[in-house]
Amino acid sequence: MTSTASAPDSGRPLLNRRLAEFGTTIFAEMSALAVRTGSINLGQGFPDTDGPEEIREAAVRALRDGRGNQYPPGPGVPELRTAITAHQQRRYGLSYDPDTEVLVTAGATEAIAAALLALLEPGDEVVALEPYYDSYAACIAMAGGTRVPVTLRPSEGPRDGVAGRRFRLDLDELRAAVTDRTRLLLINTPHNPTGTVLTRAELTAIAELAVERDLLVVTDEVYEHLVFDDAEHLPLAGFPGMRERTLTIGSAGKTFSFTGWKVGWVTGTPGLVSAVRSAKQFLTYVNSGPFQYAVAEALSLPDSYFDAFRADMLVKRDVLAAGLRDAGFDVFTTAGTYFITTDIRPLGESDGFAFCRALPERAGVVAIPNAVFYDHREAGAPFVRFAFCKKVEVLEEAAKRLKGAF
Ligand SMILES: Cc1ncc(COP(=O)(O)O)c(C=O)c1O
Repeated sequence: MTSTASAPDSGRPLLNRRLAEFGTTIFAEMSALAVRTGSINLGQGFPDTDGPEEIREAAVRALRDGRGNQYPPGPGVPELRTAITAHQQRRYGLSYDPDTEVLVTAGATEAIAAALLALLEPGDEVVALEPYYDSYAACIAMAGGTRVPVTLRPSEGPRDGVAGRRFRLDLDELRAAVTDRTRLLLINTPHNPTGTVLTRAELTAIAELAVERDLLVVTDEVYEHLVFDDAEHLPLAGFPGMRERTLTIGSAGKTFSFTGWKVGWVTGTPGLVSAVRSAKQFLTYVNSGPFQYAVAEALSLPDSYFDAFRADMLVKRDVLAAGLRDAGFDVFTTAGTYFITTDIRPLGESDGFAFCRALPERAGVVAIPNAVFYDHREAGAPFVRFAFCKKVEVLEEAAKRLKGAF
């Protein structure tokens, strides 16, 4: 175990105490289990189909033409920065200056790390929605901050998933979590792993709180294009008083199905973006040269691309949701992202960790216990996450295996 390894001649652990609790991720453990058991891996969120051919070709062209093979400019290549601002304008009516209000990062992961390292002083509190994407906790820890989780809780309602049972934000809990030490709110919508998309009312309340308490907001909106049914993605930066205090994070990996390219970005005021750039320049300095040109083209694809992408994922969501329901899981409605959260209690189970560790042998399928995304592990214990960004036939086979196993 990485976290407990120590130098040969001292009792001191190799891994520093800020990171000690983050030894090995569940994804590594579960993916290894998937390989060993020949299971279908619905654990990690990456598509099994690459993004648009023309965008892959755009990357090849950039490589061949020698665009981006050497260090690109620190803030990102101008073509991509302009494409990002044009996208924010076209989709949401938000105006950003491509020269001072955009920074290209090594995926959203680096954007999160650089933002937190830039904005936090040791001891600062970060209020984040729990369950949270696993890098949040680690990055808050690396920055010396303290995380203050606000737990999203399942709404009451019919248990058939179709009727819209979802995880919701308790606004009183959110308000109570803010103290004089709170530096920023770390928000994620559409939300991984619950599939919740924060509503206009929830976002309005978050914005009002941020303004009232004069807080910075970092909002991870990497699944902005994956919203279904009547859900709508509303960027937090568009709410009154938010533009000047909000850093918005996006990612090409999720929207264009090229997760390995690691092209992400932040948008915000010149002051905020320049702070993030100060941290980023000592993490990677620059990244993904040729891919930046390709993503610039991707962001300029017509609306038909984004519509078709969403429609394809919607079919996949419905195939997996039906299969899981059929196998006996309680299925929460995924309004956004490519994850489905389930409740395993109808199967007579209550410990998601034990369930997921046994599932590959039992059913030949890998899933992730939501408890890993919680500080209050007990609150997440009965929930298990499945990714549906896989081919329909793969999802159908997984559904068949699960049905046969229970
Ligand atoms: C909520 C959320 N934020 C950020 C990321 C990381 O994005 P990227 O691959 O662009 O680093 C992910 C990836 O799963 C995610 O789910």
